[in-house]
Amino acid sequence: MARQIPTLSSKLTAVFILISFITIPATGKSSDFVKIVDRDSLGLGKEKVSHFKFFWHDIVSGRRPTSMKIVQAINNSATMFGLIRMIDNPLTDGPELSSKLIGKAQGFYGSASQQEVSLLMTMNFAFSEGEYNGSTITVLGRNEVFNKVREMPVIGGSGLFRFARGYVLATTHKFNLKSGDATVEYNVYVMHY
Ligand SMILES: *[C@@H]1O[C@H](CO)[C@@H](O)[C@H](O)[C@H]1NC(C)=O
Ligand SMILES: *[C@@H]1O[C@H](CO)[C@@H](O)[C@H](O)[C@H]1NC(C)=O
Repeated sequence: MARQIPTLSSKLTAVFILISFITIPATGKSSDFVKIVDRDSLGLGKEKVSHFKFFWHDIVSGRRPTSMKIVQAINNSATMFGLIRMIDNPLTDGPELSSKLIGKAQGFYGSASQQEVSLLMTMNFAFSEGEYNGSTITVLGRNEVFNKVREMPVIGGSGLFRFARGYVLATTHKFNLKSGDATVEYNVYVMHY
C-alpha cells in the first residue's frame, strides 16, 4: 500500500500539469506587455556561422593612446590586480596599424587574478566597414594573456549580429615590452542570422 502513494501522487501531478496546460491558454488573457512573435516577422531565416579574422591594437603609449588606465592596480600586486583600462582600440584587417580599419573594440578590461596575469575582458566590437557597419559583437570573458591562445565567449550582438553567440580565439601577434603596446590577432566564430 505504501508503495502506491508516490505512484498516486505522481499521477496526480501529471493530471495537474495537463490541466494547467489546458486551462491557462483557455482562460488566461495574454498579457499586454508580452506576446509570442513569428520568427519570420523578425527576418530570422537560417542561422549561419561566420569566421572573422582581424587585429586588435592596444595602444597604451605615445601621444594618442587608445587604451587608458582608469583604475590603478593595488599596491605591490605582481599581477596588477585591480587595474582597469578603458579601450577604444582599432580593429584592422591586417597586423599593421596602417592596415584597413574595420572597426573599434570599445569597452574595458581589468586585471582580475591575484595568482596569474588574467584579465576580465568586457568589450564590443563596433564594426564600421561594409555591410557590418553599425553592427556590434559583444565579448565577455577571461583572458590569461601569457597563454598562446585565449578563448572568450561571444555573448551577443546587435544589428546583423542579433541573437549572436560564439567564441573568439585571441593570440598575441606582437608585444612591445618597452612601450607596452600590443597587437592581438582575433579569430571570431559567431552564429547569427
Ligand atoms: C600605494 O602606494 C602609494 C605610493 O607609494 C601610496 O601613496 C599609497 O598610500 C599606497 N596605497 C595603499 C592603499 O597602500
Ligand atoms: C558607416 O555608417 C556611418 C553612419 O551611418 C556612416 O557615416 C559611414 O560613412 C559608414 N561607413 C562606411 C565605410 O560605409
